[in-house]
Amino acid sequence: MKNAHIANREFYQGKRVFVTGHTGYKGAWLTAILYELGAEATGFALTPPEGGMFAHMGGEDMIHSVTGDIRDFGAVKEAVQSAQPEIVFHLAAQAIVNDCFEDPRYAYETNVMGTVNLVEAIRQCASVKSVVVITTDKVYENKGDGAVYVETDPLGGIDPYSSSKTCMEYIADTYKRSYLQTTDRMVGVSTVRASNVLGGGDHIKSRLIPSILNSIGEGRLVELRHPQQTRPWQSMLDALNGYLSIGRLMYEEPEKYSSQWNIGPTRDGIRTVLWVVEQMQKHYASVAYTGGGYIRAIESNTLGLDITKSLEMLDWEPRLSCDEMLYNVVEFFKGQRAGVSERELCLKQIKRFFGT
Ligand SMILES: NC(=O)c1ccc[n+]([C@@H]2O[C@H](COP(=O)([O-])OP(=O)(O)OC[C@H]3O[C@@H](n4cnc5c(N)ncnc54)[C@H](O)[C@@H]3O)[C@@H](O)[C@H]2O)c1
Repeated sequence: MKNAHIANREFYQGKRVFVTGHTGYKGAWLTAILYELGAEATGFALTPPEGGMFAHMGGEDMIHSVTGDIRDFGAVKEAVQSAQPEIVFHLAAQAIVNDCFEDPRYAYETNVMGTVNLVEAIRQCASVKSVVVITTDKVYENKGDGAVYVETDPLGGIDPYSSSKTCMEYIADTYKRSYLQTTDRMVGVSTVRASNVLGGGDHIKSRLIPSILNSIGEGRLVELRHPQQTRPWQSMLDALNGYLSIGRLMYEEPEKYSSQWNIGPTRDGIRTVLWVVEQMQKHYASVAYTGGGYIRAIESNTLGLDITKSLEMLDWEPRLSCDEMLYNVVEFFKGQRAGVSERELCLKQIKRFFGT
């Protein structure tokens, strides 16, 4: 059994960490984890959405929260300079595939130039030792032939979200080779290609779990866009534990661990959308669904992620089974409906995962 969660628990206490996109869904969970582990964290993002998890869990007092637009280089540079971070996690992005399809210019400005702004600010900040750039499994050239992608496969996301995320891969690599790993400086730089995460507290209605849970709450049919599409589903906590492990290992051995990493479930977690709904039915007998709603953005039918390299080289592995992952989601949802605060619910699951 690998113990990355224990190593992360010990390592992050007192570390200066900078998180972009800390007000988003993954960012809120990462904020709560860093708070629980005792890191000295600064976040940089747009104003948190009112109904989002960050606001619901009272994230403002878990992190030094800076409101700013990542397209504004001056604001990014000032926030990085003032935080003097040791480790940076870059999550800020236009992250909804359909939103990017509707407004590709904004998507590219945020995802591409936002990344340039951040790595340029890091270039000018000597305290930084480790940089984790979060992209996605959608950066791979997807031929729709059922392939399971490894890190050396060709890149080439075709829709605006995926292609802007692919650009982020090249920007990170260029800054690493040109500026951050030279004879004068050795900063760890990795991109992490993660698959879809499942966890409690997701308020984005178009995503699968909120749409299922909202439909249940309102007694409606669950509308599935593409029930037979496969995705590598993984738990929020396992994905973030993976990010934290890469940030820690690069801090300790930047040359060895600077790379591209797939972070996802084991092959067991590569399942259809319908499978996830059926698992939810175990907990809610009344889930009924319809399939095949209309979506304009091009979404790939099959997307699998091979995590062998991460399993072999990192001290990380997914800890939660599919059942435990969905248990967490349902526990969170039931707690919300019973009036338990999201702060209490997420800290409870974080303590259980990290053993704090
Ligand atoms: N959620 C998933 O399943 C998933 C899967 C793979 C990869 N990712 C990646 O993980 C990261 C986080 O995803 P998420 O689901 O938390 O997204 P989210 O949409 O919930 O949050 C996005 C965050 O980025 C910030 N942001 C957006 N535009 C900005 C701008 N112009 N300036 C400053 N901040 C800005 C938002 O304020 C927010 O904090 C993204 O990079 C996404 O591409 C997510």
